[in-house]
Order: sequence, then structure tokens, then C-alpha cells
Amino acid sequence: MASILESIIGGRPAGGSPAGTVRSPNPSRLTDLVAEVQLADAATFAAACATAKRAQESWADIPAPVRGRAIAAIGRIVEANKEPLARLVTRELGKPYAEALGEVQEIIDTCDFFLGEGRRLYGQTVPSEMPDKQLFTFRVPVGAVAVVTAGNFPVAVPSWYLVPALVAGNTVVWKPAEYAAASAKALFDLIQAAGLPDGVLNIVFADGPATFAGLEQALRDGTIDKIGFTGSTAVGTRIGELAGRHLQVPCLELGGKNPMVITPSTDIELAVEGALFSGFGTAGQRCTSLGTVIVHDSVHDEFIAAFAAATSAAPVGDPAQDVLYGPMLDQRFATRFEEYIGWIQPYHKVLGSSGVGRISAANPRAGFVGDPEAGLFYHPTIVDGVQPGDALFRQETFGPVVGVTTYTDLADAIALANAPGYGLSSAIYTRDPREAFEFRRGISAGMVSVNNSTSGAEAHLPFGGNGQSGNGSRQSGIWVLDQFTRWQAMNWDYSGRLQKAQMDVADLAADLSYRLEA
Ligand code: UN1
Repeated sequence: MASILESIIGGRPAGGSPAGTVRSPNPSRLTDLVAEVQLADAATFAAACATAKRAQESWADIPAPVRGRAIAAIGRIVEANKEPLARLVTRELGKPYAEALGEVQEIIDTCDFFLGEGRRLYGQTVPSEMPDKQLFTFRVPVGAVAVVTAGNFPVAVPSWYLVPALVAGNTVVWKPAEYAAASAKALFDLIQAAGLPDGVLNIVFADGPATFAGLEQALRDGTIDKIGFTGSTAVGTRIGELAGRHLQVPCLELGGKNPMVITPSTDIELAVEGALFSGFGTAGQRCTSLGTVIVHDSVHDEFIAAFAAATSAAPVGDPAQDVLYGPMLDQRFATRFEEYIGWIQPYHKVLGSSGVGRISAANPRAGFVGDPEAGLFYHPTIVDGVQPGDALFRQETFGPVVGVTTYTDLADAIALANAPGYGLSSAIYTRDPREAFEFRRGISAGMVSVNNSTSGAEAHLPFGGNGQSGNGSRQSGIWVLDQFTRWQAMNWDYSGRLQKAQMDVADLAADLSYRLEA
């Protein structure tokens, strides 16, 4: 049965669909409608921001340890609803159920990490250069935050924003992807069950243009103090420009073209497992998905044979069953993916399946699990022989395609890994610690895996990228607190005199000419 979803602002349904409705279908069975989503317009989005702004001061007045207990409650409520939420993620986004359970676990892990932050949010006491004076630092919430998220991680990645933002005393307007609306609404409801006051967390369903116009309005109105955005590099660039005009620094988590270097000492079986998981897991639609394998000449043939065999044998299909991956998230990604595989050139060698493109009765995949015609299923595609000038090498290709190229010197491999200009995740397989550290030093990525795939970041290490992958902001762990708080410095002079910094400072008489006797 399809649910009808509408925005919730200040604890109340925001009524109607001034910008029309969209449907969120099950991508593995397109006849199964998951939700009908009523879309808000720009004015509604801006009104939500004003509501969040009004609610912020009293939310920040609630002692941080009490806010931390709300985070603890969210974690326990999500944990108690783990299976139904994962089932919904599988139904709406086509993620294999095991992965969907992992995604929900990532919310729980995030809550477990941040529930204690309510009792920390440490500031510092700092010595003054003058007597009878004390210096302090305080973490201050930034204010009202707009969070705009993608649907490939419809609940885990949003929690990376919502949980730390809320515990730090901010209020939030969350705009999830329309094609992930039912999963987002379910997470919203679970969070609300923890007893947040009205207006602290608001959810707005809107399309991209209305969201952007709403953000422009809210920034002009002064009702948004921070934007968090996960999505494409193109949209992230526009959000960065917009925020910059208002002297704000957004938290941007953008695309990736994540490289995996396979050195001569690699355990090939292990690397193939990693390439399979990160290349084709979530149908290649993670921002941490493997883009290009950069394999040493001497092990190319061995690697490619094993990788092609493993890919050909991998179960693809119905995400409710035990498969490597299911469908594309939504029609828009299927359409774009068709474009990406159009970049394959005659000089490339294509491996990994019995066909390329959409899986159908006419273009079957050996061993497909379920009915390929029912959903948006695509063949896994390995493209061997990609070259640095190829679009397939340079651009993010959101979907189940992995490029392969070769190298001879590690320095060249690192240069190839950096060449596309993204910088999110990266991996090297080696048994040589010198190679691992040389790679770490040279790679432009924010995240480096050694003998592990490009995907599968743990929820308490800094997550984020550089270059086209982001503006250097980091989510997760203690590091994300710098996104949702600002440092306030306080000095308190209790001497009863005006003591001037730098001028009224005592000095000890040092003899700088002093030398030991030769
Ligand atoms: C994303 O693709 O936006 O590291 C996030 C991973 C997941 C998170 C991915 N834990 O693959």
C-alpha cells in the first residue's frame, strides 16, 4: 500500500501540495508504489526555516546532557525498529536487505557515539598572559540548519547530520530526496518519538529548484545559519556559491571517483572481494563506490581474470534475497547510467556479465535472481583498458561500472588515482608498509583504505572529501562538531584593573647570550 506523505513543519502537517506530487515507486518492482509525495514550494521551505529558527533558542536552552538523552532514545527507538526500517529501505531504494540492515545500524552507531557528547561538548580553560584573568572557550550551536540529502543512503547519511546538529543545540529543516521520501519520513517519525519539541526537527518534501529557491529566501531572511548537503558535485558547487554569498561555509559531501591500487604483492583474492563489494554494492551508487582499479602490469591479467569471473558469478536481482546488488535507486539514475555506459569505446574490453545495459528478457543476465523486467536492473560492467583521457576515467559514473587501467611505478599509480580531481575515498592493496604510507601521503582523498575496499567507512571516523568531492568539511565522530558549533572565546579579568594584552605582560629577564663552555 502506498502512503501519502506531506511535509511536517513545527510539528504540524504543512498541508497540500503547492508544487504538485511525485511518486516514489519500488525500483525492483515498479508496479509497487511505496509513496505518493506532496511537494512543498519555495515559500513553504522558507517558512520551515523560519520555524526552525524560532525554535532554536529554547532548544539550545535545554541542557546538553538532556539533549544527549534524547539522542540515546533515538538510538534505542531506531534499534527497536531496525527490521521494519530496513525492509522499507529495501522496498523503496532497492538495497539488498543485509545492506539495509547495515545502513540502519549506522544510525544506531551514530546515536551511540553522540549520546555521550551531550555530557561533553567540551570547551577549554586556557591560561591568560596576565594574573587574575582567566580565558575560556565554549562550543556554541550555529543556529538553524538546512540539511539536504541524497537517497542512496536514505537514513544513515541524514543521521550523520541530524544527530550531531541536534545534540549541539541546533534546530533542523531536513529536505530528503523525493525518491527516498518514505524511508526519510519513517526516520523522522522515529526521531520525533524521542520527544523533540515542535519545530526542532522539520521535514520538507520538495524538488531541487524549490529547495534552492527556498534556501535563497531563507538565507536572505537570516533564518538559516548552516547548510549540509550530500549529493552531486554540480549541485554542491551551486550551494557553495550561494552559501558563500552569505558568508557561510556549507558542509558538502559530494561525488567521488574512488581509485583502488593493486600492487604486485597484493592478495588477489582479497582485492577481488573488495573490488566486487565496492564496485557493485548498492549497484555502484555509493559516493564511496569504486571508480577505477589501477593495477600493476605484473598482476593485471591475474586480477582481471579473477575479477571478471567473480563478477560474472555474482547474484544480481531481487534485493529481498541474498544478492550482491539490486536495482538502480530510481529512474533518473537508470537514465543517467545509460549515458555513462555509452562512454565505452571500441578499444575498451568489456567483462563481467552476459550483456551490457538494462537486464531484460532480450538482454539476460545469467543467474539473475527474480524477474528483471519488473525493475531497474543493470548488468555489472568491467571496462578494462580505460585511459586517462576517457570520460569513464575522469567522471563519476554512479552505477555498476568499474574501469581498470595499469601502472608500473607507484608514483604513477598515485598520479592516476588523483588525476580525475575528486578526493573522497581510495584504497591500496599491498603487503609492503612503505607502499601503504607512500600512497597515504600522495593521495588527495579524505579517506584511505589499506587492504580494504573504498566503501564501508565506520561511523566514527571523519568522513568527507577534497577537490570535487567536497570543500574539506568532515562528518562523523568528534570532527563533525566543528560543522555544527562555533567556538566562542571568553576572557574574564577579575584583577579590578585594565590589563592590556601584549602590553602589560610581565617578562623574565633571560640571558639569550648564555652558552655552555666548549
Ligand atoms: C555515501 O555513499 O554517501 O562508507 C555514504 C560507506 C558507507 C557510507 C557511504 N558507510 O560506504
